[in-house]
Amino acid sequence: ADYKAKIKQLLIDKNAVLVAHYYTDPEIQALAEETGGCVADSLEMARFGKEHPATTLIVAGVKFMGETAKVLTPHKTVLMPTLEATCSLDLGCPIEEFNNFCDQHPERTVVVYANTSTAVKARADWIVTSSCALEIVEHLDEQGETILWGPDKHLGAYIEKQTDADMIMWDGACIVHDEFKTKALNDMKALHPDAAVLVHPESPLDVVALADAVGSTSQLIKAAQDMPNQKFIVATDRGIFYKMQQLCPDKEFFEAPTAGEGATCRSCAHCPWMAMNGLKAIHDSLIDGEGREIFVDNELREGALKSLGRMLDFSA
Ligand code: MLT
Repeated sequence: ADYKAKIKQLLIDKNAVLVAHYYTDPEIQALAEETGGCVADSLEMARFGKEHPATTLIVAGVKFMGETAKVLTPHKTVLMPTLEATCSLDLGCPIEEFNNFCDQHPERTVVVYANTSTAVKARADWIVTSSCALEIVEHLDEQGETILWGPDKHLGAYIEKQTDADMIMWDGACIVHDEFKTKALNDMKALHPDAAVLVHPESPLDVVALADAVGSTSQLIKAAQDMPNQKFIVATDRGIFYKMQQLCPDKEFFEAPTAGEGATCRSCAHCPWMAMNGLKAIHDSLIDGEGREIFVDNELREGALKSLGRMLDFSA
């Protein structure tokens, strides 16, 4: 079936817009662009969905992104190609345990990564994404606040190192970024000595230490454009290559090596949940939203809206 053509028509018929993450497969990103949707990181996806006039958002990403959209725009219908697309950071931070952790440190400001459930967001004082985490923690540190950080321990460790803020961490990680390894990366650097290394800070600190540029997806895409190098070794989900190649057609991009190389790695530089956002699933969600629509509890929504609103105001 020509799902692309059908989806294009359905988007018009249903007054819907496709909001896709940089980590989805190239054909999904291309379709979002062709249909006037957006391809972005989670911060910009949230903003785009909030400001766009469509009454239905199709969020091609992982579940927390759909929940964020629903928190910000409760009057819109928020559909996801599949509600099974989750995130290891979200799964690794259940609300009951996170509440206990926060209760043990009531004096600390709770700063939570966007890759979490609405309930965890509602418990937080601040939400951050990797695009604004450093600035927000810097700001809180300057105010003399001490921080309880969750759930990504690698991103937390990177921020702690950069800011010297007083932070305690939840023990979570992204299964994709956790796989990047220094030895293999060093070997690859030796093969491509003129390549710049771009690393997402959800990677372990020793991998970050090998980077020429560290940042969120949007920051790494900008670095690929701005840096004079012709070659780049990229340590983040390979979905990002679509945008990098589109913006820098003359440059060459290589995937940073992951632990198992092939058969044994858990993610092989591509998030298995992001990969669930196929054309058929998008098509089906537009035909019948049953079982694919995001709902959030009203009380949790109000709590999460406060912490999300702080982030959006701060990074406006
Ligand atoms: C996000 O915020 O979308 C993810 O952390 C990936 C990124 O943009 O760095």
